[in-house]
Amino acid sequence: MKRNCYDDETFFQGYKKIRENEKNYNNMLEQPAMHEFMPDVRGKKILDIGCGFGGNCREFAEGGALRVLGIDSSMRMLEVAKKETDHKDIEYFNLEAEKLHEIKETFDIVYSSLTFHYIEDFEKLIVDISDVLKKDGILLFSQEHPIITASPNKNLGWNYDEKGREVSYSFTNYNVPGIRGSHWFIDDVIKYHRTIGQIVTTLAEHGFHIEVLHETSPKPFAIEKYPRLKREFVKPHFLIIRARKI
Ligand SMILES: C[S@@+](CC[C@H](N)C(=O)[O-])C[C@H]1O[C@@H](n2cnc3c(N)ncnc32)[C@H](O)[C@@H]1O
Repeated sequence: MKRNCYDDETFFQGYKKIRENEKNYNNMLEQPAMHEFMPDVRGKKILDIGCGFGGNCREFAEGGALRVLGIDSSMRMLEVAKKETDHKDIEYFNLEAEKLHEIKETFDIVYSSLTFHYIEDFEKLIVDISDVLKKDGILLFSQEHPIITASPNKNLGWNYDEKGREVSYSFTNYNVPGIRGSHWFIDDVIKYHRTIGQIVTTLAEHGFHIEVLHETSPKPFAIEKYPRLKREFVKPHFLIIRARKI
């Protein structure tokens, strides 16, 4: 199994701390948009790829989903999920998204929050998802926006004015897809950059109709709670796509 940074003690503790603070990019920027585009879960079978602590799985189960399968390649994340977000209709399973083809079951909805940028072979992922998705089923996923995965250095690409305010954002080698190392709690957190064109074309070539392509922007409620988020008008941080298998 490939190394997963979420199993690294320093990374895990840093990530957990961010998620415990209400004012984080997940709660303020990504999740509000994912909720907006998530179909009705009642009576549905849902697969969550990279389910992490299982917060979304629990929401789906409590919202009336028939069955939720949460997969993740980090044992550490799954240990927390099994302890904190357990539910009779959820099954947590230690599996790399790269081995999705091992799942012999079909779903109405495939959901994935902020995991796809860790997966190298996007085309295989989409083929495998198509195989486990029923006809007319929905794939809803978020990932770091390609502007972010194309940040110029190991940190992010912010440019500041003389007062220290974020006024613009640099990215580079946008048209060179592939592996990128970044620093997030630890060095060499591996992510994969691909262009919006590649992502959309791969989905279309494998029988998906794109219903929503959303680039996150802060909403008034979030700016009120977390004023620093105003900087997110400079560029989108996350890309969210809802696609239907036709
Ligand atoms: C940013 S976290 C998001 C967790 C969860 N989806 C959420 O939104 O709370 C990314 C998750 O993807 C998982 N992950 C990373 N690479 C993976 C892979 N190749 N296969 C399965 N899970 C992976 C990590 O272990 C981690 O739990």
